[in-house]
Amino acid sequence: MSQITLATLRQMKARGEKFASLTAYDASFARIFDAAGVEVLLVGDSLGMVFQGQESTLPVTVTEMVYHTACVRRGAQRALVMADMPFMSCANPELALMNVGRVMQEGGAHIVKIEGGAIMLDTVRLLAAHGIPICSHLGLLPQRVNKMGGYRVQGRDEASAAAILGDAQALVAAGADMLLLECVPADLAQEVSSAVEVPVIGIGAGAGCDGQVLVSYDILNITLGKTPKFAKDFLAAAGSVQGAVERYVAEVKGGTFPAEEHTFKSSVVAPPVS
Ligand code: KIV
Repeated sequence: MSQITLATLRQMKARGEKFASLTAYDASFARIFDAAGVEVLLVGDSLGMVFQGQESTLPVTVTEMVYHTACVRRGAQRALVMADMPFMSCANPELALMNVGRVMQEGGAHIVKIEGGAIMLDTVRLLAAHGIPICSHLGLLPQRVNKMGGYRVQGRDEASAAAILGDAQALVAAGADMLLLECVPADLAQEVSSAVEVPVIGIGAGAGCDGQVLVSYDILNITLGKTPKFAKDFLAAAGSVQGAVERYVAEVKGGTFPAEEHTFKSSVVAPPVS
């Protein structure tokens, strides 16, 4: 059982082999998810909502991310551990360098995830120059929920889709090692995944991405409030947490999850084929 690295994920992408990711916030779930074959454990700032019961991810602090990342690292055997950088922790490149340093040194993250497109280019360049692996998060950015006026599908029209594709390419050129696309139309996610060499993880972004991620509480049917359209309860049919995660991994790898009903369409109508 060898450690999953960025190189492993790049090789999987090159072979057309899908990988599975789930959020984890503690050592016990991390151990189960890892044993069930999940390749990437995301210590998401979603912990603010599902673990702390906050209204959004905004109150999560760097110290809390360090704590949960260290817990997950202790439970992980082979999975790559990705830690989210919380709201305002990367507001400028120097601040990002200091906070990412804490999440990696004290928390033990293998890679950090940073929300934001073109505005994060200088930060990504600086972190990459310091040898820090980065996953850039595009599409729906939950840390901007107040600015966006809610959690809405992004990139549905031609202009916003082109902006997401352009940001994706620019971030990879600046040094991003992975991309995460949240709640974008499946055809856009497919286009981004084909346009970049780095692995692309999707959530609510269709089956065309190189990997899939879900908030683990959603697949275990313990979501607080309404379950998102792009999620699926894997526990009901499996009967155990380990079984549910094994099913999730198998469906991601087999290409049956996400299905049509879990994906979004763009509002751009293709011209009729005459
Ligand atoms: O914080 C999180 O769990 C995330 C996922 C929604 C991708 O960023």
